[in-house]
Amino acid sequence: MKAVAAHAPGRVELLGNHTDYNEGYVLSAAIDRGVTLEGRRTEDDRITLNSSAMGMAAVANIKDLRPEKTWGDYPLGVVKCFLDEGFPVGGFEAEITSDLPVGAGLSSSAAIEVATATLLVKLFELEVDPLRIARLCRRAENEFVGMNCGLLDQASSVFGKEHHAIFLDCRSETVKTVAFPNDLALLVTHSGVKHALVGGEYNERREQCFEAAKRLGARTLRDVSLEQLLAARNDLPPLLYKRALHIVGENDRVLQGVEFLKNNEAERFGKLMFESHESSRFNFENSTPELDALVVLASKEDGILGSRLTGGGFGGATVSLIRHGAAASIKESLSLKYKELTGNDCEIYVCDIAQGARIL
Ligand code: GLA
Repeated sequence: MKAVAAHAPGRVELLGNHTDYNEGYVLSAAIDRGVTLEGRRTEDDRITLNSSAMGMAAVANIKDLRPEKTWGDYPLGVVKCFLDEGFPVGGFEAEITSDLPVGAGLSSSAAIEVATATLLVKLFELEVDPLRIARLCRRAENEFVGMNCGLLDQASSVFGKEHHAIFLDCRSETVKTVAFPNDLALLVTHSGVKHALVGGEYNERREQCFEAAKRLGARTLRDVSLEQLLAARNDLPPLLYKRALHIVGENDRVLQGVEFLKNNEAERFGKLMFESHESSRFNFENSTPELDALVVLASKEDGILGSRLTGGGFGGATVSLIRHGAAASIKESLSLKYKELTGNDCEIYVCDIAQGARIL
């Protein structure tokens, strides 16, 4: 059988931080970096995945798929979920390549999951609608990898559209795309400090959000308005109030951001990004000194309209909104100043907004 190549992109979260598991709104975009799996069916039950980037292979039997706490859990978890949901998947081998930095908050894990799912659909001639693919991949991450993420990363990787942002309603799980103004570009700056979300802090924030909603008598924080929250301030422990304020504020910012994008109001959109980061730093406490330094430097840089941490936080990267053409000078100035301020090197990528998962 001829080899098939399936590609799935990473994503940036533009606004809507930690809102997905609170059934809220997110604005994201798939980027022109991602993971590719090139593979073919085999005649037996073995799965062999080679990755020169990871420096090792993952080998398993489809009749006995168990998490091994290695990178192989992401693709193998997807195979397991396909099997659990009754899809006739057999043995296959694939080579994995990636140009997404791991631990940058750009969803390299979702990209490998979605690329695996896309390959399985093609190799085994399955009919699976895109939302189901995103959900299956989230299930793999929740149940097999053990990371309680929401739908943001997988949905962004599946539904990405060139030159468009993705507006995701995480309650109804509906996706809309919003045209991204032509004269704007995205700059991703990796702080050099890796984040690892399988750890406890992500889950702790999640629990705090659920507890805040419960105390406010709401199903989730999606159902709480800013007015309600302000009125209930004294009924909540200060920590839970801050956590809730972040989510409620982020939901509002996403809705405003969608309108600003539609009206090509880039400065106002950028301002929302700075506000979002400030709320992460102070209310949700999922930033780091390095990410804060990057955002402060960005706020002083001519040509950067907005900047914030992107993804789960606790390390990783920032995303900044810039005017097209400004990238080269900003890159140079930002990396120099970051080095001076923190002693660290940062990696900077200018990202185009790309198409979602596809067969190449
Ligand atoms: C990680 C998770 C997502 C989402 C973001 C924060 O990327 O995987 O589900 O919760 O953090 O918005």
